[in-house]
Amino acid sequence: MISEWYHPDALKWSVRYPAYQTKPWEVAWMLWKLSSTVGDVLEIGAHYGETTREFALAFPSKTIYAVDCPDNAALADRQHHELPVASRVCEAARELPNVRFLAQNSRSLDYSQFGNVGFIFIDGDHSYAGVSADSENAFTHFASRHGVIAWHDCFPHDYIAVHAYLSSLSQRWPDRFKTIIGTSLAIAEF
Ligand SMILES: C[S@@+](CC[C@H](N)C(=O)[O-])C[C@H]1O[C@@H](n2cnc3c(N)ncnc32)[C@H](O)[C@@H]1O
Repeated sequence: MISEWYHPDALKWSVRYPAYQTKPWEVAWMLWKLSSTVGDVLEIGAHYGETTREFALAFPSKTIYAVDCPDNAALADRQHHELPVASRVCEAARELPNVRFLAQNSRSLDYSQFGNVGFIFIDGDHSYAGVSADSENAFTHFASRHGVIAWHDCFPHDYIAVHAYLSSLSQRWPDRFKTIIGTSLAIAEF
């Protein structure tokens, strides 16, 4: 599956930025999921754009909205090491014709511009407040349309709060969230 879906040009970028990259098998799983998901893609937390690039190259007919905020002074100290160099944010993908890069804090995104988005990848601010803000916006988006939300970094952790946040929703939405074995991805389908 990886050789079929993972664009060979990815190697160049994964060698340059190995530390922060979503793992190749996680990208491959999302590409597989995207092949049966209608609509465009929103990635929250594009970093240097390596995953953005894979989405864009694999699906040239989809628009990939990539959001990042490298001057986010409000980001917790413990996640500061993830901030990209501002001049190079999303550099792996921003010149691709189907990529729209938005230099913006995801908490203040205007979702009315994402009318055709059917897949949201949440990989930005990992604090509890950050992941809940991005997730609530995504839930509102999919309240009136079908689609998929994927979260990165879903595992028990003292700071990275994706797992804690999604677990807190188990009463509101029993059986809504699934984790993908062998990855740190969680997903919900609407
Ligand atoms: C782990 S990196 C993302 C990696 C990327 N998704 C990939 O697969 O290569 C997290 C990114 O989230 C961005 N970020 C953190 N808080 C944000 C916010 N409130 N709005 C937009 N981007 C944010 C950081 O600047 C950083 O580039």
